Amino acid sequence: MSEFFFRNLKKTYPTVASAKGVRITDTQGKTYLDACSGAVVANLGHGVAEINEAINDQLKKVAFAHTTQFVSEAGLSLAKKVVELTPPAFRTGARAYFMSGGSEAVETAIKMARSYFVHRGESQRTICFSRWQSYHGSTFGALSATGHPARRKPYVPLLRAPSHISADYRYRCKCGFSPGPCLKDECSIAVADELESAIIFSGPENVMAFIAEPVVGATLGAAVPGRAYFSRIRDICNKYGILLIADEVMTGLGRTGAAFGMNHFGVEPDIIALGKGMAAGYQPLAAVLGSGRVVKAFEESSGVFEHGFTYSAHPVSCAAGLAAVDYVLKHDLIERVAARESAFFQRAEVLLSSGIVGDIRGKGFMMGIEFVKNFDSKEPFAADLRISQIVSQEAMKNGLLVYPGSGFIDGVNGDHIMVAPPFTTTDDEISELFEILSRVLVTVAKQVR
Ligand SMILES: Cc1ncc(COP(=O)(O)O)c(C=O)c1O
Repeated sequence: MSEFFFRNLKKTYPTVASAKGVRITDTQGKTYLDACSGAVVANLGHGVAEINEAINDQLKKVAFAHTTQFVSEAGLSLAKKVVELTPPAFRTGARAYFMSGGSEAVETAIKMARSYFVHRGESQRTICFSRWQSYHGSTFGALSATGHPARRKPYVPLLRAPSHISADYRYRCKCGFSPGPCLKDECSIAVADELESAIIFSGPENVMAFIAEPVVGATLGAAVPGRAYFSRIRDICNKYGILLIADEVMTGLGRTGAAFGMNHFGVEPDIIALGKGMAAGYQPLAAVLGSGRVVKAFEESSGVFEHGFTYSAHPVSCAAGLAAVDYVLKHDLIERVAARESAFFQRAEVLLSSGIVGDIRGKGFMMGIEFVKNFDSKEPFAADLRISQIVSQEAMKNGLLVYPGSGFIDGVNGDHIMVAPPFTTTDDEISELFEILSRVLVTVAKQVR
């Protein structure tokens, strides 16, 4: 019996004791290789001395100052640093707004889009479109945008009316392409064009934004859209004067081998939400970057963004973020993830022989592994089998942490795991990771076949 409100009160969780590099140890002395950086957060591994020192230094100076009264040097420096990483047209006049987590970042991004239009005298614009099979967070605004039926289900009566279009899910393209992912540009363009239809049906004058993850994370297992998808989306947003919000909470700051996931598609959003990897789990930290164009609307009006959290731009979190981003830049980790992507995916091919893997996809160090019962028809395993949970539990038994997901095909069916190790994982550790995972999948395949 415990007083702690666990995520699942019927489940027992090991108590974490310590962590170093890619390994986490519990109080029973069992060590796990962290193949998913927690929930794709601990991008730099555990126990990086420079980041811990930066946190301690900030604590010695000042732990807290409220943003209605002060700004911290760490906050100013971090804003400069992350804005400098954005693409040129976005960057000029851009600003960063800090908060504690990804859900808060998505709330802030949507409110920033709304405030932009209010400042411009277009207050009839209220609709924010998003996509099915997406995850944008667990607070009401972010959950309203989220397109994962199971995560939404208990709260649907409390959410905004759904404003979702399809995701560009290449492995299960509507054209029926088999056995691999469909790579036809016309299919991606057809999916993107759903946005234009949705805008027209709603009245373009009522629409303010479209939010999407550049590479879909937890709810579609690192699904990368076709190369034509986001440029078409950008064109549609431009045509109707709608803001494009890139939810880069998972993809931002190097996870996909680029500073931002959107860079892979040569597309500049208007607003970027960041989280997870920015402070790499050393402190709770997230950010919303408003492009110069968005910020200008505030500057030319009252200058006020009617919004804020008590812990906005917390000095210790900003100090951790600054040290984490400095660490990424100093060690060229974004370039190194890009350079190691193909070897990382090659190593994963060993998993195909388990006979239950239908698709291995992703970008950089962000990999999704989708399980199927039949390769040709892509028939998934029965949902109540919960194969992604079986895999994750078997992996944990074998000292390996992976990130499971389910229900992404139609709200009920579909199982995957994500493999997203810290950027600092060595080649030997990557080999070890796939050796363990391969054994785990063979064991699970025997159980479920
Ligand atoms: C793309 C994306 N957006 C938003 C969130 C929500 O972030 P948080 O859990 O920090 O509130 C997540 C978390 O998984 C995410 O992956």
